[in-house]
Amino acid sequence: MNEKLLVAQYLKNLLPDMTEEDIAAMLEYPADKKMGDLALPCFKLSKVLRKAPVMIAQELCSGLENMEEAKNVFEKIESVNGYLNFFISKGNLVKDLENIEKDENYGSNDDGKGKTIVIDYSSPNIAKPFHIGHLRSTVIGQSIKNLHRFSGYECVGVNHLGDWGTQFGKLIVAYKKWGSKERIENGGIDALTEIYVKFHNEAENDPVLNDEARAAFTAMENGDEENLALWRWFVDISINEFKKTYALIGADFESWNGESFYFDKTDRVIKELREKNLLSVDDGAEIVRLDEYDMPPCLILKSDGSTIYATRDIAAAIYRKENYNFDKCIYVTSAGQSLHFAQFFKVIGMMGYEWSKDMVHVPFGTVSIEGAKLATRTGNVVLLEDIFRIATQKTLEIINQKNPDLENKEEVASAVGVGAVVFHDLSNNRIKDVNFMWDEVLNFDGNTGPYVQYTYARCCGVLEKSPMTLEIRPTSGYVLTEEAESALIKTLKLFPEKVRQARIDLEPSLVARYLLDVCAAFNRFYHDCPVLKCEDENVRRTRIALVKATSIVLKNGLTLIGLKTPKNI
Ligand code: ARG
Repeated sequence: MNEKLLVAQYLKNLLPDMTEEDIAAMLEYPADKKMGDLALPCFKLSKVLRKAPVMIAQELCSGLENMEEAKNVFEKIESVNGYLNFFISKGNLVKDLENIEKDENYGSNDDGKGKTIVIDYSSPNIAKPFHIGHLRSTVIGQSIKNLHRFSGYECVGVNHLGDWGTQFGKLIVAYKKWGSKERIENGGIDALTEIYVKFHNEAENDPVLNDEARAAFTAMENGDEENLALWRWFVDISINEFKKTYALIGADFESWNGESFYFDKTDRVIKELREKNLLSVDDGAEIVRLDEYDMPPCLILKSDGSTIYATRDIAAAIYRKENYNFDKCIYVTSAGQSLHFAQFFKVIGMMGYEWSKDMVHVPFGTVSIEGAKLATRTGNVVLLEDIFRIATQKTLEIINQKNPDLENKEEVASAVGVGAVVFHDLSNNRIKDVNFMWDEVLNFDGNTGPYVQYTYARCCGVLEKSPMTLEIRPTSGYVLTEEAESALIKTLKLFPEKVRQARIDLEPSLVARYLLDVCAAFNRFYHDCPVLKCEDENVRRTRIALVKATSIVLKNGLTLIGLKTPKNI
């Protein structure tokens, strides 16, 4: 059991008016280990207890002295300057080690048992290239989904494709005028983007093109088979290309219902909004006013009667509630869309759906490459495909230098190269803007994905050479002799807590950064303590167990954030 909870349990006996949760929340992990492995800053209690912190710390300390159980877990409990410091005993660390190394699912929990989340992520737009900006939604969303799954939730990942709207009218007109079946079949999304860009350039001088595009989309909405067939073809081409990227980063979806899926489900929304008197007319368009909530109105129907992004999002939310009965519905998009989400969540609340409180927008910052902002209009679009290709190529060059005889070199290079890009994206708080600098991403000695993957492979290498396979190696009676061993166990022990916190905060970076701490603790241990060459059998067995436990944490952690875990690099 987590020490915070244990300590809270003990202290509860001495602080009967407080809950264990409140006590646990006050406990801290001191940065300086001289102050213990866990500390209670007693000033946090002085208001409630009306006593000086020093006094509280002393009283709690002597209270705990009489508790046999606490003495088994902690080798020392002291009161220093109003802090109550706890030092975990070696005996207890050994027990932790025994538990971790036997549990391949270590870190998981069942907080979400019986609960369902829907998570809407990635959601690229059809016929537009998948660029590095889309990577963020995909990797953050996939990781948030993995974290929920690891915590026992039923998860429905939805790829809410941008596959409906006036832009398809433009694409159809452009295709009929300048496209050819062959060009599109060979060129895929690139060829589609090319005619789309041409449309925009031409329409500047010839505004009639815009009318034609609107008419083409209206025809689609009215069931025009020819246009719909073209549209379906564009969608298929795009999805096929997206799937290649998803395979590289291990993204998978339970549903591919994009915006078009809600085309026949928006009438009901409009009717309902009208019946509930929420719609007002504004310049021919129909809107829901949100002045009361200090927000601009939410546009529902354009003056030409067509629905928009928000209308379809409201229909989608209702559909998801009715079909999946979610406990939470999460949307992962750039912070640029925050207002859109705040608006339509509010509209759903105004419609009387109490579950609007269960809708969560998870925003993230923008991406620049080598300091330059990405923008489709200025042509500074860097394709994910190119980035992954370059990362893989550079990784392969490094492998060829360092480990030329490695088996499956290409496969490993892809796992590590792609992993480097993904890890870099996830290693800072998601709301921060990401600046993608090649040197940083691929620095295999820095705080990068390759460094974590390499540390994992190093663990696997030791375990493979271990003279006794785990099945026959006795997994008890361990002895800890070096500080670096204890420090490593203390780091590994934090994993379940990090997983839980990352899920609650919807913040995969907590796991990514924690894995760097694990690597640092492991590499210090590996440097200070010979493993296979250690003479003393009990100490050797303990160290092998430490390597095994580390490998479990690294494997589970890397998998949670979507990185592959090659055993050999
Ligand atoms: N397709 C949108 C875009 O690329 C993101 C969709 C997010 N999901 C949603 N339900 N609105 O900007």
